[in-house]
Amino acid sequence: MKRSASIKGAALASPPHIIAAGHCLLTISASTPPSQPGQFIGIRISSFADPLLRRPFSIFDHSDDTLRIVVKIVGRGTAMLAQRSPGPLDIIGPLGNGFTILRGSRVMLVGGGVGNAPLHYLAGVLSAARCDVTYIYGARSAEAIFCPESFEARANRFITVTDDGSRGRKGLAADAASDLIQSETFDMIYACGPQPMLKTVADLSRRSGIPAEVSIENYFGCGIGVCSACTVHTPKGPRRACVEGPVFDAASLVMDP
Ligand SMILES: Cc1cc2nc3c(=O)[nH]c(=O)nc-3n(C[C@H](O)[C@H](O)[C@H](O)COP(=O)(O)OP(=O)(O)OC[C@H]3O[C@@H](n4cnc5c(N)ncnc54)[C@H](O)[C@@H]3O)c2cc1C
Ligand code: FES
Repeated sequence: MKRSASIKGAALASPPHIIAAGHCLLTISASTPPSQPGQFIGIRISSFADPLLRRPFSIFDHSDDTLRIVVKIVGRGTAMLAQRSPGPLDIIGPLGNGFTILRGSRVMLVGGGVGNAPLHYLAGVLSAARCDVTYIYGARSAEAIFCPESFEARANRFITVTDDGSRGRKGLAADAASDLIQSETFDMIYACGPQPMLKTVADLSRRSGIPAEVSIENYFGCGIGVCSACTVHTPKGPRRACVEGPVFDAASLVMDP
């Protein structure tokens, strides 16, 4: 169901809190419908015409009437959000679909950069569903890793991988996933992060026969299925990631090499 009406009474509950270099955590009080890990909210940045479009953010955590999101500052909208004072916030959601929740299964989660945000929520739900959770957290460097203790608490095994080797293994999260799959098996791989990482995970899934779900964080316009800015390609034709995703079965996507 499309939910495009603003959530009445939603508010930023406290000032944005810096959690890593260039990243802050926003705590939002809002009586939203229940959400699923992988879904996102659309935030109107300003009451003025600029920036015009809502910006999409994955749900990092949701309990009762409190939503938390992680904002990586990349441009004007995210910079404005990071400086926002507590008070009313115009949000819509939860939007899109969510990850499939397995029970009592052996799962691997692979996150890259701010793509770790939705997997934090997912790890908590899978852990509550008695899954054995292996979490591979990929980041550029140690200073860009946010809330590591909270991820670690939700996983049976927590592996950090950084591009520069400043924390954990040096290299790419998808390569760490590939190495693990040589000697272990999983019931599902879940991934969110940069497109090359998702492509590697999709290839791994195909080769190993382990199903994978990936969350696509491409460019969105309206975020509610109207503009087609978010189109992804599948053998059955184009799909709008904002309504038919952002979570897709990796095998159902045609990804650029
Ligand atoms: C489903 C979904 C979930 C997302 N979840 C999160 C999240 O949890 N936390 C978070 O920080 N960000 C998330 N993003 C990305 C976030 O929406 C964008 O970073 C944000 O809209 C940029 O707004 P801006 O005004 O700051 O940047 P703009 O001024 O619009 O752009 C600044 C720069 O960022 C680049 N950029 C903008 N959007 C994206 C994007 N989607 N992917 C890669 N580069 C981009 C632009 O090309 C430009 O170079 C998500 C995106 C999607 C589609
Ligand atoms: S962002 Fe407009 S249709 Fe998806």
